[in-house]
Amino acid sequence: MGSEQDLLAIHNLHTGFRIKDSFYNAVDDVSLSLKQNEILAIVGESGCGKSTLATSVIGLHNPNNTNVSGEIIFKDMNLVALNDRAFNTIRGNEIGMIFQDPLSALNPLMKIADQIEEALLYHTNLNKEQRKERVHELLNQVGIKNAKRVARQYPHELSGGMRQRIIIAIALSCKPSIIIADEPTTALDVTIQAQILDLLKELQKESGAGILLITHDLGVVAEMADRVAVMYAGQIVEEAPVVELFQNPLHPYTKSLFKSIPQMDKEADKLQIIKGLVPSLTSLPRKGCRFSNRIPWIDSYHHEEIPKLHEISPGHYVRCTCWKHFYFEEEEGGN
Ligand SMILES: Nc1ncnc2c1ncn2[C@@H]1O[C@H](COP(=O)(O)OP(=O)(O)OP(=O)(O)O)[C@@H](O)[C@H]1O
Ligand code: SF4
Ligand SMILES: [Mg+2]
Repeated sequence: MGSEQDLLAIHNLHTGFRIKDSFYNAVDDVSLSLKQNEILAIVGESGCGKSTLATSVIGLHNPNNTNVSGEIIFKDMNLVALNDRAFNTIRGNEIGMIFQDPLSALNPLMKIADQIEEALLYHTNLNKEQRKERVHELLNQVGIKNAKRVARQYPHELSGGMRQRIIIAIALSCKPSIIIADEPTTALDVTIQAQILDLLKELQKESGAGILLITHDLGVVAEMADRVAVMYAGQIVEEAPVVELFQNPLHPYTKSLFKSIPQMDKEADKLQIIKGLVPSLTSLPRKGCRFSNRIPWIDSYHHEEIPKLHEISPGHYVRCTCWKHFYFEEEEGGN
C-alpha cells in the first residue's frame, strides 16, 4: 500500500491510551500512504480513532499515558521515534494542521497578523519587513479581501468562516508538504463549509501538498477526496479510490455508512444501519474480529481469526471476506 513517491507512509501504527493500568489501542495496526497532490479522506463514526490517527502523525500525544508504535515515514525519518525538539521543527512547518474549532486554535489575546507572523518567526528566516509582506500575501491567498483591517483584529471579532481562513493561512504559512485537516468544516454553516472546502482544494492544487482529510461526512469525501480509507474501531476496514468506493462499497460497514445518509425519498426511521454501537476502547473484543457481533448471520466458518485487508482489485482493499457474505434485509438471497 506504499511506494517510493509517498510523502507519508504509515506502517502498522498502534496508538494506545492508558486507562487505569492498561493500554487500549484507539488506532490498531493502521497502514496508509499519502502522495503529493493527493487528498486522502479518513472516514468513520465518532470514536473510531480518526483524530487519534491525526495526532499520532503530528506527535501530539503525551508519552506518559499514550503508547505509539509502528512507523510513520516522512522524508526518510520515522516520526514515531522522533523526540519533541525534532518534532517541533516539522509540526506547523513541514506538516500543517487545521482542526475543527478555529477559535480554540487561535490565541484570543493576539492580533491576527501577530499570530500568523509568529509561525513565520518560528519556522523561517524572513526579516520583519518580509514577514509583514508574507502575512498580507497569506491573507489574500485565503480569500480575505480586507486583509489590512483583518490583520489588526482579534479572533473574537471575526466570523467562524473567517477564523478558519486564518487557521488555513497559518497552516500554509511555511509552505508545508502535508496538511492534516481534522473535520475542518464541521463547526461551520453549510454555505461557509462549501467555501472553505473550495479554498482548501484550490490551495492544494497550487501548492501540490498532500492532504489527510478527516471527516464523518460522505458529502465532503465525494467533493474532495482522491482516495478514501474507512475506519471502524481503530482499524481500516476498506480503502479505495473515491469513485470505486462510491460505486462499489463492499465492506458491510462501508455499505452501512452509505445507507445511513438521509435520502429525500426515505423516512428517517427507515434508514439502514448495522445494528449496535461502536464499542468503547475498554469493551472492544481483543481477540478475533471486532465486527462479528454486529453481523451475527455470517456463518462462523467465514470469519478469519485475525481478519486482514485483502486487495480485491487494484487499490481497493477490504478487510476479510465479510463482503462476500453480507446483505441488508432487502438484498437477502441476492448476494
Ligand atoms: N486521551 C485519551 N485517553 C483515553 N481515551 C481516548 C483519548 N483520546 C481518545 N480516546 C478514545 O479513543 C477512541 C478514538 O477517539 P478519537 O477522538 O480518535 O475518535 P474520532 O474518530 O476522532 O471521533 P470524532 O468523530 O468524535 O472526533 C475513543 O474511544 C475515545 O474515547
Ligand atoms: S467475515 Fe471477517 S471482517 Fe467480517 S465479521 Fe467475520 S472476521 Fe470480521
Ligand atoms: Mg475526532
